[in-house]
Amino acid sequence: MCGIVGYTGNHSAVTPVIEGLRRLEYRGYDSAGIAIPTQPGQPLFIKKRSGKLKKLEEALGKTPTTSSGIGHTRWATHGGPTDTNAHPHLDNEGNLALIHNGIIENYEQLRAELEKRGHKFKSETDTESVVHLLSEARKENNGDLAAAMRQVCRQLKGSFTLLAIHSDKPTHIVGARRNSPLVVGLGTNENFLASDVAAFISHTKKALELGQDQVVEITPNSVVITNLDGTEVQGKEYEISWDASAAERGGFSHFMLKEIYEQPKAISDTLIGRLSDLDLKIKFKKINKIVIIACGTAYNAGLVGKYAIEKCGGIPVDVELASEYRYREPSLDEKTLVIPISQSGETMDTLMALRYAKSKGAKILSVCNTNGSTIARESDSVLYTHAGPEIAVASTKAFATQLVAMYLIGLEIGRKLNTLTKREIDVICEELNQLPAKVEQILETVEPLRETTRKFKSAESILFLGRHVGYPTALEGALKLKELAYMHAEGFAGGELKHGPIALIDKGTPVIAIMPSQDSLLAEKMSSNIQEVKARGAIVIVISEHEFSGADYLIRIPKVTQLMQPVLAVVPLQVIAYEMAVVRGNDVDQPRNLAKSVTVE
Ligand code: G6P
Repeated sequence: MCGIVGYTGNHSAVTPVIEGLRRLEYRGYDSAGIAIPTQPGQPLFIKKRSGKLKKLEEALGKTPTTSSGIGHTRWATHGGPTDTNAHPHLDNEGNLALIHNGIIENYEQLRAELEKRGHKFKSETDTESVVHLLSEARKENNGDLAAAMRQVCRQLKGSFTLLAIHSDKPTHIVGARRNSPLVVGLGTNENFLASDVAAFISHTKKALELGQDQVVEITPNSVVITNLDGTEVQGKEYEISWDASAAERGGFSHFMLKEIYEQPKAISDTLIGRLSDLDLKIKFKKINKIVIIACGTAYNAGLVGKYAIEKCGGIPVDVELASEYRYREPSLDEKTLVIPISQSGETMDTLMALRYAKSKGAKILSVCNTNGSTIARESDSVLYTHAGPEIAVASTKAFATQLVAMYLIGLEIGRKLNTLTKREIDVICEELNQLPAKVEQILETVEPLRETTRKFKSAESILFLGRHVGYPTALEGALKLKELAYMHAEGFAGGELKHGPIALIDKGTPVIAIMPSQDSLLAEKMSSNIQEVKARGAIVIVISEHEFSGADYLIRIPKVTQLMQPVLAVVPLQVIAYEMAVVRGNDVDQPRNLAKSVTVE
């Protein structure tokens, strides 16, 4: 959601800024813009376009060669995705430009006051109030943009990453953050500010974390971080563990397809060194309840986590949509362990639920894929998934690693609380170790599935059925299809079918059923469910580890213990959603209306 890039160095800024925006495209956006200083004290060069980055590039024309600038991709909240509402926004002199991610909650009041003081507004955005306020504050602080930014941030309500540049000091870029991501990239004679490290990974692997309510001022050779009261603080420096090629398509037609194929590696990277001890700073003996909080795909991983953790660790687990959690005043205390799951580590709903739980004394163990992200930093302990950068908006490899994290946590609790025998622990470890090869096996045989998928491209609706952990897998399959194919899709628990959803079945309705492992009693029950929908005209695609004659189309997956089946069963579901998006001509990596990292509530 909104991509932010700032560059100051010794090269013309247009290239690193546009290249950075391109690498942040995955976050989801609907317009883009750039601001580059021309001459000191003169109005800035500004170009903004609704639509994709390509439209902005086509409109750029001759650009200044100044070696500093800021760029933005906007995901519309206040005001539609028009050229005027696109960022950067300017003060009335045209010398100060500002870009913003997040929501300024008190913008209406600020706007009314600023208009009374003579400021002229052009857009419908909440952001524009901030640029006018910053312009006033800069004058009050004798041209000190960082001091002005601190003063303005103290007056703002809401969440924001802000970046500003003024033509008087073109080499200086000032940023600020509250509940929204901003990292510094440390180069040689050049520095960067960005929503995430992907924006500058091809220039430097050295990054600096910024804390909550901090302001940063960068020049080509300096980085100064301050709290809002002006006291200087040190940022936490770290090395980015992946390289630029990880954020490129590498011969695949889409990032999503590449990421589907990266799952074996992502799973084994997440397992490495984790099977004997997780070294979590949590005293499980003191915990009597676990609550998993997450959104979207991460929530579906959490649903599987409930089965895994309760079975292995014996502690009751609730799984909650992060956006609902804090508003229902849940009962929780210091004996509650809250597990937020988040690929980005920045999802606002999850972050707010985490903070609520923390304020009630709960312990927080987050599962995150992004080093140094806000959710990771605010947790008592973090179990990082090692999926590498996930660029496609629809999550695939991150989901696979989140599932692995759930099994690892179950295993750890089972080991610490002696709820698993030595033999059970060995079996789980062995099963986990075999997962990458089994996923690989599925990926080697998905071609016919792509062909089958194309037969259903005009279906009005596709239903997914599962039981036990197959139920959250069905939910994930349906979510993937909605996100990518823009088709109606719903996941149901097999047993619930007769309580309502069966009314949806008509002649020709495609139903995708996930057959439980043969060694589980549920296989027979699912078999009956399949007969029930077939009797009403459904066409059934069955994902199964064993032969099944009742299927119209059978997709075989390797045998695995029921608990771990989602890691395998979800792969064909991802391929179905991918292929459906391709055949329907949709934007696979950036589906309409969606954002990768949702930093507003
Ligand atoms: C957005 C994305 C989903 C993702 C969800 C949670 O809605 O489009 O793909 O599952 O956020 O994201 P997180 O980064 O917290 O896992």
